[in-house]
Amino acid sequence: MVAMQQVWPRFVPAVDHFEVYEQASRPHSPERPWVMLCMITSVDGSVSVQGRSGPLGGPVDWAVLSALRGCADAIVVGAGTARSEDYGPPSVTAEVRERRLARGQEAVPLLAVVSGRGDLDPAARLFAGPERVRLYLAAAAPASRRESLAGVADVRTAGDRTAEAAEAAAIIADLAAGGRSLILLEGGPRLNAAFAAADLIDEFCITRWLPAGPA
Ligand SMILES: NC(=O)c1ccc[n+]([C@@H]2O[C@H](COP(=O)([O-])OP(=O)(O)OC[C@H]3O[C@@H](n4cnc5c(N)ncnc54)[C@H](OP(=O)(O)O)[C@@H]3O)[C@@H](O)[C@H]2O)c1
Repeated sequence: MVAMQQVWPRFVPAVDHFEVYEQASRPHSPERPWVMLCMITSVDGSVSVQGRSGPLGGPVDWAVLSALRGCADAIVVGAGTARSEDYGPPSVTAEVRERRLARGQEAVPLLAVVSGRGDLDPAARLFAGPERVRLYLAAAAPASRRESLAGVADVRTAGDRTAEAAEAAAIIADLAAGGRSLILLEGGPRLNAAFAAADLIDEFCITRWLPAGPA
């Protein structure tokens, strides 16, 4: 566990990240899911280094992301991020799994990937886990891609008001219909923009990592 200090409302020298996020008060309900956005940025606002976010993050960023994943009913990520970061199936520790089950959640959060074109490799690591990934496609996604991905994922169309883009509101409504009301949005920027435009981000978890300088 990486030491993280809480400074408000009282000082705690080393907090349990998972407990902090698990116990946060969020007025969500089956009818109105709560959407948390988690991103790492550099101090000048970059979100990646050579196409990956890893080099921007330190151990605390990763601890925060894992804690949020452990709390969420579903993780939503753009296909661009899933491709560039070579996303794998979500996993949680044995302790978090037990706490999730005790709360009535699924053992691991659902992973939902959003794509316009469905340009994802069915053999990708993303689809290799025991739980089926959900894939939200735009209405205009080619039928051939839908068919090839239907063998490895739960493929759905997210809205039909725009042909080229999946609609954030339709994604949230579909997740809510399946009983998932705590949603973690993991980016990237293009997907975040769609959720922001629909006014569907309730909580921002933005971390900035500053490497330790010389003492
Ligand atoms: N620093 C961080 O915390 C963080 C977090 C996440 C990502 N990133 C970085 O962000 C970069 C990627 O940025 P990005 O803006 O391209 O990411 P992105 O939003 O994940 O990917 C864009 C792609 O996702 C799909 N997509 C997103 N929104 C969509 C919508 N509303 N409807 C249909 N499809 C949608 C499209 O896929 P198709 O092309 O398949 O149609 C689109 O080309 C990567 O370098 C990644 O490392 C950083």
